[in-house]
Amino acid sequence: SHIPVIAIDGPTASGKGTVAQKVAQHLGFHYLDSGALYRLTALSALRRNTPLDDEHAVAKVAEHLHCHFSGAHIFLANEDVTDAIRAEEVGNTASKIAAIPTVRQALYGLQLGFRQAPGLVADGRDMGTVIFPHAVLKVFLTASVEARAQRRYKQLIDKGFSANMQDLSKDLTERDARDTNRSSAPLKAAEGAFLLETSEMTADQAVEQVLHWYAAAK
Ligand code: C5P
Repeated sequence: SHIPVIAIDGPTASGKGTVAQKVAQHLGFHYLDSGALYRLTALSALRRNTPLDDEHAVAKVAEHLHCHFSGAHIFLANEDVTDAIRAEEVGNTASKIAAIPTVRQALYGLQLGFRQAPGLVADGRDMGTVIFPHAVLKVFLTASVEARAQRRYKQLIDKGFSANMQDLSKDLTERDARDTNRSSAPLKAAEGAFLLETSEMTADQAVEQVLHWYAAAK
């Protein structure tokens, strides 16, 4: 089909979510926060006390995920979990269960469904490599560990969570290692992806660059 997709992948707290949302807003496109689906699965599994090492049980949770997105709000069944899924425990659990291939399979169709006219901006780890390999533009967005820990710190404090820079840097590094070294859909730049190093950039500068690439690619 002709519905364009812009795929933005990168490590934890690289700022890809902010950039992807702003690009989507600017173009009037839909937005997929694919990480939210892994976080929703993690939250649901944590609440049901699903043993996280029972891959079959966790995959069942992903298959039966009752979630919906409404504007900037994310719901699990009828509960608004927009903030709850941002907790570090949920992020760390998400990164563990995201290594399970049957969990990834369960969330595959759900992600494809976000591709609707007039277009989609999708962010995650495997948007350009696995989910939307025919994306018209692929961006791999990175930033230093220090810059990312600082961004995550601010995000968490703004949401009313407590946070500690040292713990955050350690968590980020561990999560990156897990996402990069797993065998199923590891974090890596897709073939043909443009690299965007944002440590010294504002979100708006990164958005400008992506829009510029998109104008040239479409
Ligand atoms: O991007 P975010 O930090 O919200 O993602 C949470 C976790 O979900 C990541 O650490 C990663 O393990 C997993 N994830 C993934 N594939 C995606 C998006 C997120 O494996 N496309």
